[in-house]
Amino acid sequence: MKNKISLGVNIDHAATLRQVRGGLTDYPNLSDLVKKVKAGGGEQITIHLREDRRHIQDHDVVTLCKKSALPINLEMSVSEEMLQIALKNKPAWVCFVPEKREELTTEGGLNIIKVYTEIEAMTQTLKSKKIKVSFFIEPNLALVNAAAQAKADAIEFHTGHWVLAEGTKKEKYWKQLVAAASYAHELGLRVHAGHGLDFKHAKKIRKLPHLVEVNIGHALICYALELGLEKAIKKMRDHLK
Ligand code: PXP
Repeated sequence: MKNKISLGVNIDHAATLRQVRGGLTDYPNLSDLVKKVKAGGGEQITIHLREDRRHIQDHDVVTLCKKSALPINLEMSVSEEMLQIALKNKPAWVCFVPEKREELTTEGGLNIIKVYTEIEAMTQTLKSKKIKVSFFIEPNLALVNAAAQAKADAIEFHTGHWVLAEGTKKEKYWKQLVAAASYAHELGLRVHAGHGLDFKHAKKIRKLPHLVEVNIGHALICYALELGLEKAIKKMRDHLK
């Protein structure tokens, strides 16, 4: 039976481990990890080709798009360079994300209103090549509306602030996620979510209305140190049920 919530596994941090030794080792081997993700019940591989190439490299994009047994979701900034890479390699999905060189990780959603003209044109180009497009945004109704206007297939809500918040602030962020998810569904957008999700928050995020996909990276790679990747993914799947 098909899972109600599809699990995308972000393997950037496996590439980080390789790159801290200058990319000179042939381990961890990302193609082997894809097999483990599949065996554990993951449905998609998510990778972020950052402009500074701190983890995923151009050759990873080429190899994974060509050979991965699971569909590839390529996260990238709104730039002409990235657009050309996506068109060449044809991942199943492109997810537009914001990018700042000095950030440790993607720290918030993309302000698609600010880059509306570019993102709308790039979305049209990608969709004309049968690449589906999602926008990584904060759970905000104006942004959801802009995403629908730009004809995105999906929005991925940034869950990072909700994950880190406590008490009434956490409830406030949750309400924003619920309202934005309902509105996105009403406008015909698929609802995805990601960032900072761990076992504890997977149990909660599954209750988000209309949620069909999560993308999880850091926690899974950390859990894999103890459990192995396949088991960590199986356990995450259980928490999403
Ligand atoms: N979704 C998007 C759009 C992201 O940028 C990231 C981080 O690269 C993730 C999901 C995964 O976040 P985490 O590694 O915190 O699980």
